[in-house]
Amino acid sequence: MTFQTKIKIGTLFLFGLFACAFFVPKGEMQTKVETAGQRFKNIKVLNDLPADQLGEVMNIFAASLGGDCKKCHVSNDKDFEKDDNRSKNTARAMIHMVFDINKNNFKGQTQVSCNTCHNGRENPRSVPSLEAPVPAPERPKQPEVKPTIDQILANYAAAVKGKGKMVSSRLIQATRLEGNGKSEPETIEQSQGKIRVKVIYPETPVTATYDGTKVTTVTKTGEIQIQADQAEQIKREAMLFANPDLKSVYAKLDYRFLDRLNDREVYLVLGTTADNQRDRLFFDKETGLLVRRVSVTATMLGAFPFQYDYSDYKDYGGSLKLPATVAFAMPNQRWTRKIVKVQNNAKIEI
Ligand code: HEC
Ligand code: HEC
Repeated sequence: MTFQTKIKIGTLFLFGLFACAFFVPKGEMQTKVETAGQRFKNIKVLNDLPADQLGEVMNIFAASLGGDCKKCHVSNDKDFEKDDNRSKNTARAMIHMVFDINKNNFKGQTQVSCNTCHNGRENPRSVPSLEAPVPAPERPKQPEVKPTIDQILANYAAAVKGKGKMVSSRLIQATRLEGNGKSEPETIEQSQGKIRVKVIYPETPVTATYDGTKVTTVTKTGEIQIQADQAEQIKREAMLFANPDLKSVYAKLDYRFLDRLNDREVYLVLGTTADNQRDRLFFDKETGLLVRRVSVTATMLGAFPFQYDYSDYKDYGGSLKLPATVAFAMPNQRWTRKIVKVQNNAKIEI
């Protein structure tokens, strides 16, 4: 039995994208970029798509059409190679159309994606709405003097300051609430830029570790390989955990403008890492806290965003407050982590 079929797949959302566990068993990793045509069984259009992008593209499809995998497949967790759902072939024609639109009109850049027309609906609306238009929220009045990065970081550091002493490690019990209403216990071991997150699914716990150098992911069947961009996200969350010194995470930080987020005014800062990965960081103007981070991966069929909303910052007895609630969102997948208990200076091994 393969890894894919052994685990009840729909629940193995370690990192959101594995609606069908697109893990590449370790050892089968190749140095040359493997294409979807090579890895999967019945690919007729996406032959040149890097195989690693397929999972994200499928989640983009599902989110763009406002459905799940069954919209185009016969099941939500298996037999994806079968062509027995008519919509799958319609989707193939649509993929051709999108490639042509971008090639013929936008110099081959992915300007038009499935979502451009579908926007969360099965059938795009071509008739203009007769509802009174809802005005797009205006950008708030910009500050006369732009805040400097140092000011924004100093406010953030002051805002997360706890009453206690420096903490060298933490053992955290949390609950992971899935978008479908289910929930699982989660434990987080954390120490200075390193993290181990264990999600205790009923079928098998899944553990993701960033040890300061690399990310490893393990289930009861052994080590599994996840995509590079997902590993990068795990690393970034580890580095940002209880660490207001963003200069240690990003090589470059640029203030962009004052924006609005959920009726709050926020400073938008663009963070660029040493290897040119970019994050958008949103700091609440009034409280100074980091409230959102957004990272984007490009795919052949449009952008795949990863979004993290940090809220409910609490003092757990250390020198830094932690966001008790973190909402994770990406196309077709969302979940929320809620901290239940924090043990400071716990004995952990990462
Ligand atoms: C809008 C339609 C659509 C949706 C929604 C969709 N898919 Fe697909 N999927 C396709 C098409 C079309 C192909 C074949 C592409 C080709 O022939 O190049 C495909 C192929 C696949 C394959 C490769 C199968 C093989 O071995 O050939 C997998 C795996 C897959 N999809 C998984 C998923 C998962 C998981 C979801 C839900 C997150 C999903 N798909 C949602 C249209 C869709
Ligand atoms: C230029 C606009 C446009 C774009 C871009 C577009 N679609 Fe469509 N799509 C449509 C329209 C319009 C229909 C409805 C056709 C109908 O009702 O006969 C449709 C229908 C579909 C259907 C059939 C829905 C059903 O009722 O079963 C699928 C599946 C689909 N699109 C998938 C996709 C995918 C996947 C992409 C991206 C690769 C995409 N579409 C991009 C316009 C678009």
